[in-house]
Amino acid sequence: MIPKLVIANWKMAIDRASVSQFLNEWEASHIPSDVTALIAPPALFLSDIKDITGAALCAQDVSAHELGAHTGEISAQMLSEFNCSHGLVGHSERRLAWNESNALVAAKARRLEASGICPVICVGESKDVRDSGDAESVVAKQVLASAEGLVSAPVIAYEPIWAIGSGEAATPKIADSMHAAIKAALSARFDEPTSVLYGGSVNEANAGDFLACESIDGLLVGGASLKAASFTNICQSVGDRR
Ligand code: 13P
Repeated sequence: MIPKLVIANWKMAIDRASVSQFLNEWEASHIPSDVTALIAPPALFLSDIKDITGAALCAQDVSAHELGAHTGEISAQMLSEFNCSHGLVGHSERRLAWNESNALVAAKARRLEASGICPVICVGESKDVRDSGDAESVVAKQVLASAEGLVSAPVIAYEPIWAIGSGEAATPKIADSMHAAIKAALSARFDEPTSVLYGGSVNEANAGDFLACESIDGLLVGGASLKAASFTNICQSVGDRR
C-alpha cells in the first residue's frame, strides 16, 4: 500500500515555546507505517525540529532565485541543507497576499526540483468559481501552468480557498471529483502518477473520511496540526480506511 502523505503546515501560527511543547508531546511510534508524516514549520524553526523522528521536514515556501542579493529570501539549496524532503509552493495565502502567479509558482517548484526537493504545489478555487460550476477546469489549468517545466510529477495539494481556516471543509465527494480531474490533467504531462492531497479545515473528526477515498493521497493540515496529539490523531485516522 502506498503510504498517505500527511503534512502539518504550521504557517506563521506558532511560537518557539509551542514548537518545544509539540516536540515534547510528539510520539513518533504512534505514526502508522502507512503514513508519511511531514512538518512544515516557519523556516526559522527548521533547526529546532531537525532531529524529530517519525516525521520528515517540509518547507513552507522557497525563493524563485537560485542565489545572490535577495534580502529575506530562502533558497532551495538552503532548504536542502536543512534536510527538507518536500516544499510547499503556491499556497493560496501567498497567491492572494503576494500576487504570486502560476509562472512564479512554477519557477519556485523548478528550483525545489533542481535541489532534489519534491515540490508540493497548492491549488484551489475561490467560492465564486466553485459556485459558477467551473471549478474543475479552472483548477486543472492552474495545475498545468504551475507545474510548467518540471521534469517529474510534483505532489499537488488541492485546497479550496473557501475551505481554508473556515471550518467548512469540502466534502470527500467534491475532493474526490477534483482529484480525479487534477490527475487526468497531469497524466498527459507526466509518465508517473501524481499524488494529490486535500487541505482545508481538515480535523480529527473528518480526516478519516478523506483518507478513505482512493483518489486522496494525503492531507495538508493547518490549524489542527499545531498540537502533537491532534496531528497524531489525524495521521492515525488512516486506519479508518482499512
Ligand atoms: P486549515 O487546516 O487551518 O483550514 O488550513 C489549511 C491550509 O491552508 C493548509 O495549508
